[in-house]
Amino acid sequence: MAERTARLGTVQETLLIPLYGRAVENRQRDAALRDPRAEEIAASIDYDFTRFDNLPSLIGTVLRTSLFDRWVADFLATHPTGTVVEIGTGLNTRYERVDNGQAHWFDLDLHDVIELRRAFFENIPRRTMIAASVTDGTWTAAVASQAGGPYFFAAEAVLPFLADADVRHVVDLLADRFPGSLLALDTAGPGIIDTQDQHDALSKVDARMRWACADPAEITSWRPGAQLLASHTLTSLPPKMHAELPSPYQEMLASLATQQLVQVEEYRLNLVRLP
Ligand SMILES: C[S@@+](CC[C@H](N)C(=O)[O-])C[C@H]1O[C@@H](n2cnc3c(N)ncnc32)[C@H](O)[C@@H]1O
Repeated sequence: MAERTARLGTVQETLLIPLYGRAVENRQRDAALRDPRAEEIAASIDYDFTRFDNLPSLIGTVLRTSLFDRWVADFLATHPTGTVVEIGTGLNTRYERVDNGQAHWFDLDLHDVIELRRAFFENIPRRTMIAASVTDGTWTAAVASQAGGPYFFAAEAVLPFLADADVRHVVDLLADRFPGSLLALDTAGPGIIDTQDQHDALSKVDARMRWACADPAEITSWRPGAQLLASHTLTSLPPKMHAELPSPYQEMLASLATQQLVQVEEYRLNLVRLP
């Protein structure tokens, strides 16, 4: 595959962190997640990924992706012809990991990301890339006109980079246009936002998070009828997922739990049903 230079905007560059996390994970003997495509893509991008080597948060990105994969797989088990929308998809490869051969998929991100993405992926009848900001509601019409519900929106490591008002706007857009849909999102509390200059991975790039969310239940207060179906920290993953992790991960998470680090305990992975 030809080598691509990653010429990305500031927040867009952050997509390289989870991409590299999945690529490194794929090389492990006992891996929490397999992603040969991520390894291949990372190897063909001209970028100094070594700045992220051995960072603890790389494992966090892999565990987050693994939980989101499970939520999407559960959704598709119940709704095999449903629609999955990756909001801020970056170079995510969830389709490659959990597609069921029947669902519709949309990969939404900013223009320069989609341009890079087109070097590695192509539109096929069930899978479409959309170049737009999630805050620009016009993309919702493209999704609604091309694929029926129910809908699952995966916003993995995206919304914390938006301003509070924009996050609320995105939730309103989704609830208005896709009532009853599921939204998976991560939230970072104020202790994380305030100390992000020391964050092991973010300190290596220029992008910074803006939306501080102390309690994801807050999202349900924005839209009456919204439900917080699940909310996990990395140290309180769903028992089935935890049981299926390689034992070194279980031991690492048990040790993390005893430390009660703000950076870990204020970071939550959430599943919301919109009204
Ligand atoms: C940390 S990366 C996560 C990428 C991907 N979700 C993953 O887990 O591999 C954040 C992504 O959010 C995207 N993003 C940030 N602001 C956005 C916006 N307003 N609209 C769409 N995508 C956005 C960035 O371009 C980037 O791809």
